[in-house]
Amino acid sequence: MGQQLQDNSLEPKQLLVNESLFAQGNGYLGVRGNFEEGYAEDMASIRGCYVNGFYENVDISYGEKCFGFPETMQKLPNIPDAQTVELYLGHQLERFSLFSGELLGFERSLDFDTGISLRKIHWRSPLGLEIELEIRRMVSFVKRELFVIDYQVKALNFDEPIEIRSSINASIENFTTDDDVRVASGHAKLLWPTDCVAGGFAQVVAKTHSSALEIALSSYHRCSETQSQEFSSAENQAKTVVRFAAGSAVRMTKYAVFTDTRRHPMPAQQGLELLHSFSAFDFEALASEQAQYLSQFWNRSAIAIKGDEQLELGLRFNVFQLLQSLGQDAVSNIAAKGLSGEGYEGHYFWDTEIYVLPVFILTQPELAKNLLRFRYNTLDQARARARELGHTKGALFPWRTINGDECSSFFEAGTAQYHISADIAWAFAQYWKASADFDFMCECGAEVLFETARLWLETGHFNRQGQFCIDSVTGPDEYTAIVNNNFYTNSMAQHNLNWAVKMHAELANKAPDVLGRISSQIGLDAAELKQWQAASDAMLLLFDESLGINPQDDSFLNKKVWDFENTPKSKYPLLLNFHPLVIYRHQVSKQPDVMLAHYLLDGISDEQTMAKSYDYYDQVTTHDSSLSSCIFSIMAARIGRLDVSGKWFAQTARLDLDNTHGNTRDGLHIANLAGTWQCLVYGFAGVRLADQHLKLAPALAPDWQGYSFCLTWRGRQIEIDVNPKQTQVRLLSGDAMDIEIHAKMRRLETSLSVETLGSND
Ligand code: BGC
Repeated sequence: MGQQLQDNSLEPKQLLVNESLFAQGNGYLGVRGNFEEGYAEDMASIRGCYVNGFYENVDISYGEKCFGFPETMQKLPNIPDAQTVELYLGHQLERFSLFSGELLGFERSLDFDTGISLRKIHWRSPLGLEIELEIRRMVSFVKRELFVIDYQVKALNFDEPIEIRSSINASIENFTTDDDVRVASGHAKLLWPTDCVAGGFAQVVAKTHSSALEIALSSYHRCSETQSQEFSSAENQAKTVVRFAAGSAVRMTKYAVFTDTRRHPMPAQQGLELLHSFSAFDFEALASEQAQYLSQFWNRSAIAIKGDEQLELGLRFNVFQLLQSLGQDAVSNIAAKGLSGEGYEGHYFWDTEIYVLPVFILTQPELAKNLLRFRYNTLDQARARARELGHTKGALFPWRTINGDECSSFFEAGTAQYHISADIAWAFAQYWKASADFDFMCECGAEVLFETARLWLETGHFNRQGQFCIDSVTGPDEYTAIVNNNFYTNSMAQHNLNWAVKMHAELANKAPDVLGRISSQIGLDAAELKQWQAASDAMLLLFDESLGINPQDDSFLNKKVWDFENTPKSKYPLLLNFHPLVIYRHQVSKQPDVMLAHYLLDGISDEQTMAKSYDYYDQVTTHDSSLSSCIFSIMAARIGRLDVSGKWFAQTARLDLDNTHGNTRDGLHIANLAGTWQCLVYGFAGVRLADQHLKLAPALAPDWQGYSFCLTWRGRQIEIDVNPKQTQVRLLSGDAMDIEIHAKMRRLETSLSVETLGSND
C-alpha cells in the first residue's frame, strides 16, 4: 500500500507523543518508540514494553467497600527493557546523544508495508567526530516473541574505534500520575527481578508477586567483525559491550525474545531455545518474512482515500496500529490503548466488540474469531460475577479486565455498564452473519448468547403496563449513571434475547446434539426460551412524542441542560474537572448512547427519529470520549449529511496523529482507530449486515474524490471502489452472491456498477 508515518520532530512534548505513535507490536508484544540511547537529562519519557495479557493483581483499597465490589484488579506491567543501546565514539569514548553535539540530519519513519521503523541520523560529536547512523526496529509478526534492533554506524571523518554498549534490564517500573483517572496513580512496581545471566546469550527473569507470573527476556547480538565482546551483569542488568576496530564496518543486530508463563510454561528455558532458533535468521531474512505477512494482511484490508494524503495516512496508520495491538492467541484481547502505552492499565473494554470487531469481522475473520474466543474462554468468570451480583443464572462480563475478572472499582461508570454483555452477544451475531461459521457458533457462540440472554431476564422486570424494563444500569454515556430504561441497553438487550432465540432454533434444527449438550451443561429449558421472547417483545424502548426522539433514559430529558456556553475549554474533559454528581445531575453526554443504538441496530428507529435524535444529542454531547466522533460521523452519513460526516471523519482519522485529545502519550485510542475504518465502510459506504446478505449504500462527501476498500463476506473477497456518481463493486474471489445496494437486491457475479450518492440524495 506504500505508506509510512514520518516525523522528524525532536521537540520534547512531541517526542512523548511519538513514543506512542511509533510504537511497534504484533499483538503479543508491544514496544514504545523510545530512543535506544536515551534523552537529555531533563526530558520526560515513558520507556515501555508490554506483553498482552500479562498482568499483576493488586488489592483495591476502598474507603467504604460495599458488597460485591471487586477486591483486586489486574494491571499491565511494564516488562524488562530491551531497547537500550548506547554508542561511544573514538579514543575519547564520546557518547552519542541527539541532544548534544550537532545534529546534521534526522529522519524518522514507521512503514506500514514492512513493519519496520527507521531512524537515520547524521551527527557531529562535541569533539567533531562525524557519523551516519541507521537504526531499524521490528517486532516480528511471524516470530511472535521477537523484537529486533538493527544498528549500523558509519564513521565519516575519523579512523578510531567505536564501542556499542547494549543491555537488558529487569529493574523497571510503570508510569504513574495522580492527575488523570485514566492512568494508574499507584503501584509503580509490579515486577520483581529474580535472575540475571550475562553472556553471549544473556537473560533477565522477573516475576509478579500476586499473580505469580514470570517473564524472561533473552538477548543475543549478531555483529559484523568485532575487535572484542565483553559481558557483565549488575543490578538485574545484563550488559554486552562490543568494540569495533578503527575503519571496520559497524553493524550489530540485537535479538530480544520475550517469553511469559501465560504462553510458555518454562519461560527462561523456552526463551533461550527460541533465541537460538530466531537468531539464525539475519535481519534481512526477518524483514522479508515480515513484509510478506503484511502484504497478505493489506490484501484483505486494503483501504484508500483518493486525493487526500493526510486522511489516507490517518486511516492506514489507524488500521496498521490496530493490527499491531490485536491479541491473536485467545489468551489476550485488545486493550483500550493496545500495546502502545499504559493508559487504562492494559484493560480490555467493550471497545473490542463495538469498535474493533466490526473491522476484523469484515476483513480478517480468523483474527476476529480469536477475540471472540477470548470472551468464551472467560465465560466461567462472567457466570461467577453474575452470581456475585445476585443473579441466579446467566453471565455478566466485566466492564474492564485482563484475565476475565472484573477490575472496575468505580461501579457507576463500570460494572453498571451491563450493556457489555449484550455488546459481546451482538459481536457474536455479527460474526455469524458475516462468516456463516455455524461450527464456531456451536463451539462458543451459542453458549455466550444463551448465558447473556439469561442475564436480562434477571436484571429486568415487567412493569404494571406489561413493559419489560431494565433499571439501574449505566449506558455507554458515562456522564449519566445508574438510570432506568437506558435506550441503548434496552435495545441491545432485546437484540441479545432475539439472537439467543434464533440460535436456539438453528441448533434445534441443525445440531440437536449440540443443543442437548449445552442445555444440560447450563440447565436451560424451553420455558426460559418463552420468557426471552416475551421480554424481547415487551422491551420498553423510549420515545418522546413532543421531540420526536428516543430519550437516552427515563430521566435524561428532565434534567437541567449543562451550561455549555459558560464552560471554558480548560474545563474539558468534564470528568477531570467536576465531581461525578455535578455531571450526573445535568443533561450532558460524554459520548453517543441513543445514536449508537441507531447505528448498530439497523431499523430500530425510523429515519425521522434518527435525524431528530442526531440533532438533539449533537447539542448535549461533549465528545470527551474518543469513542464519540466516529459514531457521529457514521450517523451523519446515515441521515444523508455527508458534509458533516466528512468533518467528523477528519477528526477521527487524525485524532492520535494530531494528539487532539492531548493524551496520546499514554497510548493510542484503539476504539477510535477502528472507528475511522467504520466511518468509511459503515458510514459513507453504508455497509450493514442483514441476517443473510450484505447491504451497501455508497455515498461520497462533497469535497471527496473517492475511496475504496476490500471486504470479506462468507469466504468471498469483495472490492468496493467509490467514485463521484459511480461505484464499482467487484467480486475478487468466491461464488456469486446476492447483495442489497441502495435498498435493491442485486446479483453480484463478477462486478456491478451502481450509483454513488451525494449529500441528501
Ligand atoms: C469511555 C468508555 C471506554 C473507555 C476505554 C472511556 O473514556 O467512556 O466508553 O470504554 O474509555 O476506551
